[in-house]
Amino acid sequence: MTDIRRLDDCLSVRDGRLWIEEQDAVELVRRFGSPLFVVSEDQLRRNVRRFREAFARGWPDGPVKVMPAAKANWITAVQRVLASEGCGCDVYSAGELAVALKVGFEPQFISVNGVPKDDRHIRRSVEAGVRLTIDAEDELERIERAAAEAGKTAQVRLRLKPVLSGFIDASNFVPEGLVPTDIAAIAYKGGLSWNEIRAIVPRLRAAKHVELVGFHQHHGRHHPSTRYWEEQMRTYAAEIARTCELLGGYRPREIDIGGGFAIPRDPHNAATDYTAPAQLGALYALSRALQHLGSARRYAALAPLIDAVAMAPNDRPAPTIEAYAAACTATLRRELGRHGIPTAGVTLQLEPGRSIHGNAGIHLATVRALKSTERPIRWKIAALDTTEFWFTGGRYEHHLHDFRVANKADAPAVEKVDVVGRSCYGDRLMPTIRAPRLEVDDVFAFLDTGAYQEVSCSNFNAMPRPAAVLVTGAEAAVIRRRETEKDVFRRDEIPAHLRKGARR
Ligand SMILES: Cc1ncc(COP(=O)(O)O)c(C=O)c1O
Repeated sequence: MTDIRRLDDCLSVRDGRLWIEEQDAVELVRRFGSPLFVVSEDQLRRNVRRFREAFARGWPDGPVKVMPAAKANWITAVQRVLASEGCGCDVYSAGELAVALKVGFEPQFISVNGVPKDDRHIRRSVEAGVRLTIDAEDELERIERAAAEAGKTAQVRLRLKPVLSGFIDASNFVPEGLVPTDIAAIAYKGGLSWNEIRAIVPRLRAAKHVELVGFHQHHGRHHPSTRYWEEQMRTYAAEIARTCELLGGYRPREIDIGGGFAIPRDPHNAATDYTAPAQLGALYALSRALQHLGSARRYAALAPLIDAVAMAPNDRPAPTIEAYAAACTATLRRELGRHGIPTAGVTLQLEPGRSIHGNAGIHLATVRALKSTERPIRWKIAALDTTEFWFTGGRYEHHLHDFRVANKADAPAVEKVDVVGRSCYGDRLMPTIRAPRLEVDDVFAFLDTGAYQEVSCSNFNAMPRPAAVLVTGAEAAVIRRRETEKDVFRRDEIPAHLRKGARR
């Protein structure tokens, strides 16, 4: 486990209990129920300010706008905090656009990304005067038509997809870790390839209701290193330059570098421990080899091995926001200059998602049952009242979140346990981790769960989803209420012939 203090967090340990800002996590559960998503307002604001200040230091040429990705946490109150902090907003869907407009982001700093976009979404974007990012060949004509009908000029950016030919480390997006990042990035659906850019540019130059204001790119979190960002900026600058040339000497006013900066404790892929397959392979081979000894002796030989296999959250911090900013700005400025693209007056935009929201959120859940097997091998299970279906955002990325037992935050880890959830699947939230001695009613705090988790909860097993609260110093308020059973069934309809009393 990483030292909470080391990462300048909203978290602290006081008298053996975990606090978030000025709130005792266990008290939050007592007051608002379990399980619970908790967001720290102060951490959100601090993350935004650090990004803004660090990038502004490296980009003296023009304004810097932090435009956090709404998809990471689109709860209205959370978006309101970001709008009040002077941010812009990266939105993907019509729903995210609705919340962005509602909470008051300036339309010119709302970046509508994603593919495919439907015509209604395009029309609404044009009417609202937000930035549309062109991410498919046919979008240009659809935007042109919508703008003509609305009597407006649509401001657009081209989403470029430079080939990251100089970065061939294994992509973390592929859990097996066997695919070079440059290839994985080509396979990702976002962005316009060079052949697509060449097809669009002449049509863009002829468009009457569309104005190109700049460029966009987003590759995502393939790798946490600053080297990966340097390669993104190097290739982005080159792609910008050749697109400008194709456009007849065009000069961008806005350059958006997207998101994908790692969360400081970086839970990404921590659940994919590459040593595990080797350990499990050895266990399997030994198990087969010992079969002839009879089951008692086989178990006696295997038990210490099984005891030794354990997983642990990542304890290697990601680069700091300042390190990312220095790497990005220095490379982008140098490379644009080298290609003859002036940076004076250009607005630099960035769209961090996980790195704004991740460490601003914790998920609290309570131990409801403990199960143990003594023979023939020792196995212990702690069943919590949460589920992997309320962590699906992180499951896709093989997160293994760092954690604290909130009411035993200073207690040493003395036993190995499988922390499981309540759904009918195996629901192994944290397989074979080392934890303090556990009791029913202990409260687990899953750290760094502020991004992509609450917003991807599902109703599997007809389970009502948890509440979310915002902590502001010593205050805490519900920002998304706990679902009821009625909520779970609110979209269901019964056809007439199945209604009670209907004749067949
Ligand atoms: C266009 C765009 N910008 C920003 C982000 C945020 O990425 P991250 O949360 O990795 O910072 C995403 C995520 O998919 C995205 O698609």
